[in-house]
Amino acid sequence: MAAPLALAAPPGDPARGRSLLLQRQESGCILCHVVPGLPGLTPGGALGPPLAGLASRYSAEELFQRIADARRVNPETIMPPYLSTAGLHNVARAQVGKTVLTEQGLADIVAYLLAPQGAGDGAGDGAR
Ligand code: HEC
Repeated sequence: MAAPLALAAPPGDPARGRSLLLQRQESGCILCHVVPGLPGLTPGGALGPPLAGLASRYSAEELFQRIADARRVNPETIMPPYLSTAGLHNVARAQVGKTVLTEQGLADIVAYLLAPQGAGDGAGDGAR
């Protein structure tokens, strides 16, 4: 059972979100999802649905909560919880009690996913 999250999404920055999405180790999103505006990884997208057109189905708050802990929508999901450590086991000791993303990082990713496609393009490139 995932603990209820009493989190409000802080305002996000789509360009930072794009950089985070591109950092595989940080987010891992592109290992499972095709994300519009980002270079695809093969066999990216085989595990999860493409993250396209989300703005028509989710508010920022809904998307934030959806990604924060996907198990609340689908208890059997293979998608890791990004802002919850509840119910995790076999966690590397250094990672115990730590969430994968920060609230700000997740809000940035949400901002990118809700922006018109490609809106973050180029903006974060200087930061590498
Ligand atoms: C291990 C594979 C995996 C990873 C990593 C992963 N996801 Fe998912 N994701 C899934 C699967 C599978 C689904 C389909 C629904 C479910 O099982 O919850 C999903 C569903 C979603 C949905 C709902 C899509 C819709 O059309 O309603 C969103 C949004 C989402 N993921 C975003 C993300 C983001 C952002 C990240 C990185 C922070 C991420 N995912 C990382 C596998 C993954």
